Amino acid sequence: MRDIVPAPPAVVCNQVQTIQELFRKNVIPTYARFDVALQRGEGSHVWDINGKRYLDLGGGIAVCALGHANPEITQALVEQSRLLVHASNLYYHEPQGRLAQALARRIGPGKIFFCNSGAEANEGLFKLARRFGDLEGRFEILTAQNSFHGRTLAGIAATGQAKVKKGFGPMVAGFRQIPFNDLEAARKGVSPATAAILVEGVQGEGGVLPVEPEYLLGLRRLCEEKKLLLLMDGVQCGHFRTGRFQSFQRILEEKPEAAADFLPDGISMAKSLGGGFPMGAFWVREPYADLLDAGSHGTTFGGSPLACAVALKILEVIERDHLADNTRKTGAWFKGELQRLAAKYPAVIQQVRGLGLMIGMELAAKIPAFSAGEKSPSVQFINRLHAAGALAVPSGTHIVRILPALNLRPEEAAEGVGIIESVVAKLSP
Ligand SMILES: Cc1ncc(COP(=O)(O)O)c(C=O)c1O
Repeated sequence: MRDIVPAPPAVVCNQVQTIQELFRKNVIPTYARFDVALQRGEGSHVWDINGKRYLDLGGGIAVCALGHANPEITQALVEQSRLLVHASNLYYHEPQGRLAQALARRIGPGKIFFCNSGAEANEGLFKLARRFGDLEGRFEILTAQNSFHGRTLAGIAATGQAKVKKGFGPMVAGFRQIPFNDLEAARKGVSPATAAILVEGVQGEGGVLPVEPEYLLGLRRLCEEKKLLLLMDGVQCGHFRTGRFQSFQRILEEKPEAAADFLPDGISMAKSLGGGFPMGAFWVREPYADLLDAGSHGTTFGGSPLACAVALKILEVIERDHLADNTRKTGAWFKGELQRLAAKYPAVIQQVRGLGLMIGMELAAKIPAFSAGEKSPSVQFINRLHAAGALAVPSGTHIVRILPALNLRPEEAAEGVGIIESVVAKLSP
């Protein structure tokens, strides 16, 4: 009888290929990974297993709000872990209560549910919408074409991209996509079964496309009129990434009178909330905050003392160090520099857009230096960035996303622009 799995061979040689082999044999291949094996990080820099240093402009896909190996996060983790790591949600504990207060205070009257990821936060919003519509038999949630809401079964049904749904049918019922930033289409899209509309403040995976202020305000009016919940996915664009706590606060700065009264009914959060400690949450506006009552929803690890202690520390540091201002200023400078590069190298960069430190650089449709192989232009560009010493995140086939730590320093931003320019200049015909 073979009841003991033999121990895997020890990693004896620090080679990327050795690690890749471990993955090839043992890790389910759902990710198309880059040929980079990272070992450690410090602030906005990371080092690979061979000691090569990279400027991290991807921030672990908008997660590492305070960069890597932040000593204050380490301290919060150590201190809380000496007290209580996990307790379950059978009991009360102070960090969860304090974090819920701190998050709600930055949005508006309402309450928070804690979970573990962005997809799970959105699942909670879907359940909220179903509870809300239940008495009247309404259940449908409208989402935007090109949107991204996570990889669970309901998440892919909500997502407005065919590639995430392929091979996983039948889709969870009750989701329908409408064109993004098109109010007329939203109005026409509402059916007697509709209970909610869900939008990202800035479409992230879809290519860094902000929602237009008029559209957002129009959706709010439409939701009032038709008695729908207006839900926002703030997983990627939230937590100060745009320069304000939530993206709608930044987007509506252009409309100060209307912004004063604006609130969505629910917002999902994750990524930067835990700065690398896996956690998610959703906020629900006051009249609906008790719709999900005792027994209706739950998750074992949600809002653990450890996760909440980290998230509280991140909020404290963001506020103390004025990182919202830094995000706004450094982001505007970075975007301006990339726009300068777009003007100088139009055959390589087609457009630059974004808010704060959520920037999308759209590559030209055809860059002659790129091979026509299976790797998309965005992936080929990022491979060259790696060689030049920076990390960034692809979005679709042609967009390179810049999502660095919110405490990215001006000299690091300058280093990043220099690295990007060195790659762009070589690609320019
Ligand atoms: C807007 C948005 N929603 C939801 C998700 C899913 O989050 P998670 O991967 O934590 O489940 C993501 C992840 O990229 C996202 O960008």
